[in-house]
Amino acid sequence: MSDKTHLSDSKLHVVILAAGKGTRMHSTLPKVLHSLAGRSLLARVLDAAELLNPASIRVVVGFEAAVIQAACPEPHLHWVMQAQQLGTGHALACAVADLQQAASLPTPDDRVLVLYGDVPLISVSVLAPLILASQESALGVLSTQVENPAGYGRIIRDAAGEVVAIREHRDAAPDELRVHEINTGILVARLGDLSAWLPQLVPHNAQGELYLTDIVGLAHAEHKAITTRIEPDPLLVTGINDRGALADMERAWQLRQAQRLALSGTTIMDPRRLDIRGEVISGVDNLIDVNVVLEGRVTLGNNVIIEPNCVLRNVTLGDGVRVRAFSHLDGAELAAGVEVGPFARLRPGTQLSANSRVGNFVEIKASRIGAGSKINHLSYVGDTTMGADCNIGAGTITCNYDGANKHRTDIGDSVFVGSSSQLVAPVQIGDGATIGAGSTITHDVPAGHLAVARVRQTNRAGWQRPKKMAK
Ligand code: UD1
Ligand code: MG
Repeated sequence: MSDKTHLSDSKLHVVILAAGKGTRMHSTLPKVLHSLAGRSLLARVLDAAELLNPASIRVVVGFEAAVIQAACPEPHLHWVMQAQQLGTGHALACAVADLQQAASLPTPDDRVLVLYGDVPLISVSVLAPLILASQESALGVLSTQVENPAGYGRIIRDAAGEVVAIREHRDAAPDELRVHEINTGILVARLGDLSAWLPQLVPHNAQGELYLTDIVGLAHAEHKAITTRIEPDPLLVTGINDRGALADMERAWQLRQAQRLALSGTTIMDPRRLDIRGEVISGVDNLIDVNVVLEGRVTLGNNVIIEPNCVLRNVTLGDGVRVRAFSHLDGAELAAGVEVGPFARLRPGTQLSANSRVGNFVEIKASRIGAGSKINHLSYVGDTTMGADCNIGAGTITCNYDGANKHRTDIGDSVFVGSSSQLVAPVQIGDGATIGAGSTITHDVPAGHLAVARVRQTNRAGWQRPKKMAK
């Protein structure tokens, strides 16, 4: 095993079973590529596997193998093809055959940890005790107790409490169906024993498959030591077989994440109406109102307020930032005291300096806005550098695209842009310049100048409106 976990001297090899079609998902996407809290089921299992720092990781694939491989480009993964899905026992046999041909020459004392691609919340804190507890056993099995065991393999124990077999739901006798301790599918076994047991599996069961679970009966018959660990938190070891279970797990996991955030000092108006699909780092005294979605890496300072119905993806918000209702922020950095929205859209590359304001129906992209500047209504600012204390009037547009290329707009400090102006890039507006409302600015404006670029108004006295013609 790895130096990191210090669990034993022999090596640990991880095998993740992910070849099944996931028929019960009714999907063209392989089951293990469906997402939980913004990350695919398989990616989550791989995260846990990597943290164990094992000698190798094998992923058994079959249905849509190429799609799964493309989704997991990590170069050190070993991909094992299971062309026909003949059961979990067959899947592991394919991986063990591949492992035995590996250049690293595994020994019979090496251990194999089997994970399922559809058990996404598995973690090191669940796996390490199993690996440790079963160190002296031929086989270690991870089970859990659930209220509704329908569909799962049951852990069958004798009068002394020793595990003697795992019975799949469809093969179970009525008294076995009453057992609430279920097989999570996760197990750890000596490579030498696995190599002996797997060829003995037979498809004598309701599904006509080679069940990996039957190795428990084989180990028992050989009087080999079997360790079981009962995971007290079923959510962490539950397998996803259909979209109902996926939705249930999503809600349960989201609730836990929200409660964790609340316990670390963030007020969450309704923990059932916050979704975190990534990683959130939050200071204290932040407030998150209802129906907020946080994606990717979201970093919040202190005293931040996020009003209802906002989506924030990969953003950093400084102290005292207020994001008003219905705003969409993606790839933006907001310094202390900034206020945006309601109905603001910040696209990647937006940097708002301290105390700047972005109001309703304003879109900003790849732009840096200086401290204290205000863009309060109905504007598009793209590919722009703007200084401090500017006032950008309603309906101002930076015309950054000429149909082929993007160009930059440079705005100095204390610039006033009158409403409904267009700044045709590339263009520079000097410090303190003023632009008359309704101007189309196509040339640079020097510092301190007034620029007016619109048709002069004419008033005609006694003007008669046209009359409707007789038919
Ligand atoms: C399996 C267990 C069951 C356990 C449950 C926990 C068996 C026989 N049953 O049942 O005891 O309670 O998981 O979730 O092991 N797979 C392959 N190749 C195959 C078949 C399956 O790689 O030929 C993969 C699937 O992609 C999936 C995993 O193995 O990731 C489990 O297969 P699944 O069909 O979901 O088994 P369950 O019926 O859930
Ligand atoms: Mg399953």
